[in-house]
Amino acid sequence: MPDDYFRRYSPADIFGNAHPLEIDLGCGDGKFLLEMAEHYPERNFIGVERLLGRVRGVCRQIEERKLSNAKVLRLESQYTLEWLLEPGSVSRLHLLCPDPWPKARHHKRRLVQEPFLTALHQALASDGEFLFKTDHPDYYEWVCEEMDQFNQNTTRYLPLDWPEPPSDHALFYPKTDFQLHWESQGKKIHRLRYRVNGKTAN
Ligand SMILES: C[S@@+](CC[C@H](N)C(=O)[O-])C[C@H]1O[C@@H](n2cnc3c(N)ncnc32)[C@H](O)[C@@H]1O
Repeated sequence: MPDDYFRRYSPADIFGNAHPLEIDLGCGDGKFLLEMAEHYPERNFIGVERLLGRVRGVCRQIEERKLSNAKVLRLESQYTLEWLLEPGSVSRLHLLCPDPWPKARHHKRRLVQEPFLTALHQALASDGEFLFKTDHPDYYEWVCEEMDQFNQNTTRYLPLDWPEPPSDHALFYPKTDFQLHWESQGKKIHRLRYRVNGKTAN
């Protein structure tokens, strides 16, 4: 828990070192977060999750696995990006199988829209990346359109290749619980990867 919800935190404030920080927004039961933290001890990971039961479960597993480079924050995703993290502090942000809010009257609840893209651009480091997956073709199209619109006057996110299976063996990227669930039902997972553009290194 942060000491103060009204100040900004750098990776050094949170972990006591300046290793690259990765955020898993809506980390759920934490499978991806825990496997990434085990695989990359030289990086720091924060899972953001609003459901207390899930947060407690992930905390327990972080302790059991003795991971000093992983933490879970029980907070709302947009607030975390916009107000809690120091601008330019995030190396990669993962948004994996978020709630797609399929009904038209609920589309306004979808996380990826202009305020989110603005807050994300602020939070990412000058070479930071945004990685997104969904089983929902309509949400995938929505994110592509939101990005195009956001980039209309100035290109602030550049699309990157993200082949499956990864051609770059260094790109260890475990599947989340929701990805495994949707794939077991025969659903295709759509993926997008962007690098932030137009920011200078601190
Ligand atoms: C569909 S689940 C996906 C979980 C995980 N990423 C996966 O792929 O297995 C979405 C998760 O995001 C959390 N969540 C949804 N909206 C959120 C928000 N605004 N802030 C924080 N967590 C949120 C939910 O509680 C849920 O655990």
